Amino acid sequence: AVRAFATSTIQQKEIKNVTVIGAGLMGAGIAQVAAQAQLKVTLVDTTEKALENGQNIIGTSIKRVAKKLNPDDQAKQQEYIDNALNNISTTVDSKAAAKDADLIVEAIVENIKVKQQLFKDLDAAAPEHTIFASNTSSLSVTEIASATSEARQKQFAGLHFFNPVPAMKLVEIVRTDKLQEQVFEDLAQMSKKIGKSPVSCKDTPGFIVNRLLVPYMLEAFRILDRGEASPQDVDTAMKLGAGMPMGPIELADFVGLDTMKFIADGWRETGGIEPSLVTPVKVLDELVAEGRLGRKSGKGFYDYPKK
Ligand code: NAI
Repeated sequence: AVRAFATSTIQQKEIKNVTVIGAGLMGAGIAQVAAQAQLKVTLVDTTEKALENGQNIIGTSIKRVAKKLNPDDQAKQQEYIDNALNNISTTVDSKAAAKDADLIVEAIVENIKVKQQLFKDLDAAAPEHTIFASNTSSLSVTEIASATSEARQKQFAGLHFFNPVPAMKLVEIVRTDKLQEQVFEDLAQMSKKIGKSPVSCKDTPGFIVNRLLVPYMLEAFRILDRGEASPQDVDTAMKLGAGMPMGPIELADFVGLDTMKFIADGWRETGGIEPSLVTPVKVLDELVAEGRLGRKSGKGFYDYPKK
């Protein structure tokens, strides 16, 4: 009888309607994987142009997914695509998009003030039960959540996806001290539903993956700074000697050197991490100052000639 009581009070709320705010690289990916899993998705950005950009990202990526699932059947590929895309609607009105949301995932610009303002507005517009989540990589989830009401902070977590979202299996579910266990469970269940493997971690700089990856990549830059090895040799060493799919230098070019610098500079300021792990690195600062930001700018540690 005790058991029956326990299970009947812990009501699992199934997440069906997801609002994704920010139709950039990450938001588009999150919207896509949710739509592929038959969740109803509303994708939000500030302009129609940004929404179009997001839809283009999804369009390209979902073709690849459909092909992989049905390699020899074009009709089935198209059916899969239509079926998923039918689950996505778009709008520039974030408050309206909050009204029916069971979950709101934010993937806008990495700026604490802008994120806080957005969540403050959403808090007023969303129903009581709506779970709020941020895809932030480097900011404190607790601090972002502090812009919302006490009640909402209990339903506010980090939901940290990895680029490219459709391919990367991990999602870090970030717990603040206020997060309710049931909300964590709801997010874990939804993560599995959209094909991801969730891990749980506390709200600390970099969570798990970036806490380990960023200092490692900065240390790789320091090897270059000291002239101890070439970028090619560092990358080859880590791929063939440590089993990494990408070396740290090519990975940095993929992530974006401005992003690397932004994260390291930010953590140096906010603390919570051993300072020697994030001391400035000359070669990184120089490349960013020169506008060599990695793949996206055509040049970083390596050159990426336009095809
Ligand atoms: P992005 O620059 O590709 O996209 C951001 C989008 O948000 C843009 O379309 C922009 O118009 C929109 N936006 C900005 N302010 C807005 C607002 N107030 N309301 C609605 N839309 C707004 O950025 P990206 O790379 O997708 O990153 C988004 C978030 O995801 C950031 O917090 C970032 O730290 C995080 N993240 C990024 C990863 C990456 O590899 N790029 C990996 C994991 C997390």
